Amino acid sequence: MTEAEPPRELDVERVLCALGELADPGTRAFRVGRGDWPLSGLVVRRGAEVHAYVNRCPHAGHPLNLRPHEFLTADSSLLLCHSHGALFEIATGLCVAGPCPGARLRRVPVEVAAGYVLLAAGVRAEAFAD
Ligand code: FES
Repeated sequence: MTEAEPPRELDVERVLCALGELADPGTRAFRVGRGDWPLSGLVVRRGAEVHAYVNRCPHAGHPLNLRPHEFLTADSSLLLCHSHGALFEIATGLCVAGPCPGARLRRVPVEVAAGYVLLAAGVRAEAFAD
């Protein structure tokens, strides 16, 4: 089995990425859900912490990244919106510098099981469409 093939007991509709795809610290973009508005988000790992957020900046609504899977500052201490430089805490999604201080990234509840990062049980990607 490769990391791209989750074990059958996992609900593949909830899989965001394999834990092994995330450096420590590291980030990975994901898309889940069906229809015209799948959920586009990012997973960020730092040590034992794994968080996920909708990939939409609260400043002007742009995706945070310009390059695939690249969301961290050079020192990997914060999440960076590449459009206008907003900086967000990894653990909270709180903007601490840039054009939208005090605003937050929208959290996506996740859990880790069998080496995969999953949407938390009961969370549906469609709930994040707006
Ligand atoms: S859209 Fe993110 S800082 Fe402007």
